[in-house]
Amino acid sequence: MKKFNNVIVRRPCKAVCDGITSAPELGQPIYEKALKQHDAYIEALKKCGVEVTVLEADERYPDSCFVEDPALITKACAIITNPGAESRNGEKDEIIGAIRKFFPEDKIEYIKAPGTLEGGDVMMVEDTFYVGLSARTNEEGIRQLGEILNKYGMKCVQVPLEKVLHLKTGVNYLEHNNMLVSGEFITKPDFADYNKVIVPEEEAYGANCIWMNETVIVPEGYPTVLKAVQDLGYETLIVDTSEFRKIDGGLSCLSLRFWA
Ligand code: GLY
Repeated sequence: MKKFNNVIVRRPCKAVCDGITSAPELGQPIYEKALKQHDAYIEALKKCGVEVTVLEADERYPDSCFVEDPALITKACAIITNPGAESRNGEKDEIIGAIRKFFPEDKIEYIKAPGTLEGGDVMMVEDTFYVGLSARTNEEGIRQLGEILNKYGMKCVQVPLEKVLHLKTGVNYLEHNNMLVSGEFITKPDFADYNKVIVPEEEAYGANCIWMNETVIVPEGYPTVLKAVQDLGYETLIVDTSEFRKIDGGLSCLSLRFWA
């Protein structure tokens, strides 16, 4: 099954070492290493049969390589979000140009203040969008998203977060009813009907895999997750994301994946 033919990424900037982090003990990202890992990420995406649009680094925003947060792309429209992290909020104005290459103005929607929303909090399962109520995404942002999605015949389901930064930090959909879940998501009733693949605590970061047209890209260093994904029958590609992990970033945050 091919669902995506386009991906947008943004090159990490030198300021990536100053990205927001909840894990300072991991140290700062090393810029040159982050660039090499980003190169490998782009190569892996291309192997999955997509065209990759690579945006230039933006030194004003240390976290700007995480393009998943300032925009959300659905089959019917694109939504420019309103990131809740102050240092990231301006990223929404810088992603619009890339979105306009794929969507006409009447198919671009906006989350407006006081609503906040970050794409890392949104997980798409067919026409249902699970949205994390988090430190970055508030009730008003989710309300606005629901209104937009309803207009296009889709819906959203609010999922309160307790511990993690973004929803997709801990739960990711691999299509075919398969879902990788870790930590607080293992017991959430919202996900009870999926075939849940439980990620052990020590590999929690590995829950952030991405499904790309029947290949699953898995972060390097999470053998239990890798085996579980392979046992489900998926082809896999491994990409090292150690530098992005240092600033709470993972495979999904690094791209916008869509059909256009
Ligand atoms: N450093 C990624 C984020 O906090 O959004």
